[in-house]
Amino acid sequence: MKKLIIANWKMNPSTLREARRMFLALKAGVKSNKSEVVVCPPFVYLAAATEVFKSGKIRLGAQDCFWAENGPYTGEVSASMLKSIGVKYVILGHSEKRAMGENSETVGKKIKAVLKSNLTPVVCVGETAEQKQKGDAFAALEEQAETIFGGLSGQQIKNIVMAYEPVWAISTAANSRSCPPDEALTAILFLRKLLAKTAGPKAGQTLPVLYGGSVDESNADDYLRNEAVSGLLAGGVSLNVKKFLKISQSKV
Ligand code: PGA
Repeated sequence: MKKLIIANWKMNPSTLREARRMFLALKAGVKSNKSEVVVCPPFVYLAAATEVFKSGKIRLGAQDCFWAENGPYTGEVSASMLKSIGVKYVILGHSEKRAMGENSETVGKKIKAVLKSNLTPVVCVGETAEQKQKGDAFAALEEQAETIFGGLSGQQIKNIVMAYEPVWAISTAANSRSCPPDEALTAILFLRKLLAKTAGPKAGQTLPVLYGGSVDESNADDYLRNEAVSGLLAGGVSLNVKKFLKISQSKV
């Protein structure tokens, strides 16, 4: 199976000019079909990205969306709007959004809207440092996953991508440290069990589950090596085009 390598640019870069330069460099660098590469820039750069990526192998993703299709929701962007400009993937439930008030209920509503527009939600779940310290990491994952899955049919679940995102292993987290690859794998296998329980054993085995904590070009392969890890949701390192391209060309 091809690995899915997603770049989450978060709120970067600062100008459209810089974003365009990065789109062009990525397009020039992603030539082979080794992995599926998805780039998720801020909303305001998506239209420019569509232009650059309309030919080539890179797919476009957004970092969030709202659950309604349109209406009086100041500042929000809907899944159907994203679809209309060529977006294919939407990251939902990222811990940085959860820290700003997002919860698993709203994530569930957004997943439905994204699926309704025939886009692929990339659903992030993960435990905080505090939950981990208390020995509650798996309980936290289970609670988030079950709240999210609770509102979805088995068929809907079969169309999502999950990302395990240990909140304590994200570069923006206070005292961030890296999550050893074997720990990431254990959590991913646990998520696969939860998927199997809700959507059937085949879904548990075959649905894409990504690693979403910090990686860099020197350790990405350590996470990708096990076939249970379907790919990466890369943050900070994806702003360095050279390093991100190196990760996307992983041979594992
Ligand atoms: P980071 O972010 O790579 O900058 O640590 C990862 C993430 O937020 O998924």
